[in-house]
Amino acid sequence: MDVNLISEKFEAYYSAGGEIYTSPGRINLIGEHTDYNGGFVLPGAIDKSITAAIRLNGTDRVRATALDLDESCEFGLEESDTPQPLWAKYIFGVCREIAKRGGKTTGFDTVFSGDVPLGAGMSSSAALESTYAFALNDMLSLGFDKMTLALIGQATEHNYVGVKCGIMDQFASVFGKAGHLVRLDCKTGEHVYYPFDPEAHGYKLVLVDSCVKHELVGSPYNRRRESCERAVEAIRANHPEVEFLRDAKHEWLEEVIGRISQEDYIRALYAIEEVERLLDACRALEAGDMETVGRKMFGTHVGLSVLYEVSCEEIDFLNETAKECGVTGSRIMGGGFGGCTINLVSADRYDSFIATVRERYKERFGIDCKIYPVVISDGARKLR
Ligand code: GLA
Repeated sequence: MDVNLISEKFEAYYSAGGEIYTSPGRINLIGEHTDYNGGFVLPGAIDKSITAAIRLNGTDRVRATALDLDESCEFGLEESDTPQPLWAKYIFGVCREIAKRGGKTTGFDTVFSGDVPLGAGMSSSAALESTYAFALNDMLSLGFDKMTLALIGQATEHNYVGVKCGIMDQFASVFGKAGHLVRLDCKTGEHVYYPFDPEAHGYKLVLVDSCVKHELVGSPYNRRRESCERAVEAIRANHPEVEFLRDAKHEWLEEVIGRISQEDYIRALYAIEEVERLLDACRALEAGDMETVGRKMFGTHVGLSVLYEVSCEEIDFLNETAKECGVTGSRIMGGGFGGCTINLVSADRYDSFIATVRERYKERFGIDCKIYPVVISDGARKLR
């Protein structure tokens, strides 16, 4: 990300200097579709981010430019002022969610640019939300804590974009720490940082981007969530203490077979199993046992593909190829329906895996997959 270029562009558009803020995208080692089920996730922020120059302009209007799209937009801060472009809805939504929490909002000028690949499952939208939530909180001295900033981003997705996402992406973007994954208990908000240095154990972490667009807006993502909620409702009839699927025992799900649809059943089964798988993976991580971590990742992929049905042919092919290349762990990452696989590969197999997956994917689908080695980085911050 060229910070000087963003600064220069800001001056060119709005004829004075601005302050610079940045927030990253994220990976998630394991624990997928568990956040809105009250379970655990294990994300880390990455070295790909959205960076913005911002200056308060003393009016009640926002003038914003998306440099990478070469698009500008101006909007007010009242609920009825919703801008048209999707990228502007994220910025507008953050302002509205701040206002709803009693924060002062005011107009500003801004340009932003990013290198989080769009639609690849690395949470470019959370990076955008977190950049503005963090920046406005800082510039206007709003005094929101970091968790509230993440919640502001999540509420933006719910209320201004229409994706009923969990908290993982915004949490990772705000709380990320270089060299660490962070295990978040999405029910209690409790979180623990895990030092994560696969290279020290002789492994590398790499994303393989299928380049099949993953698009959660208007996707079956929300339907997955509804299935889980129906399963909770049914289980609660027998076990009133169950608030989320994370609270449910496997046997309790079996009790409601016949009372929920087969589809809701397999979705809930996945979610319950994934919570357990994540805890197993964390124990293995603590013991430095990467082989077990990898096995759990493969297990997650099967669950996401067969039970949760959020994979696709291209991603299943990438996963299968990883297995054939002796990769330690591989699975679809993020919301699904395209995007990337995340792969834990022993260092000695890395080069041959990358060469093979590139070649076979191109041969099979005619698409050049993209390779992103993972660098775990810091979360939202001011650059200058
Ligand atoms: C998307 C959502 C997250 C999470 C993942 C799946 O990235 O934004 O809240 O549900 O999908 O784990």
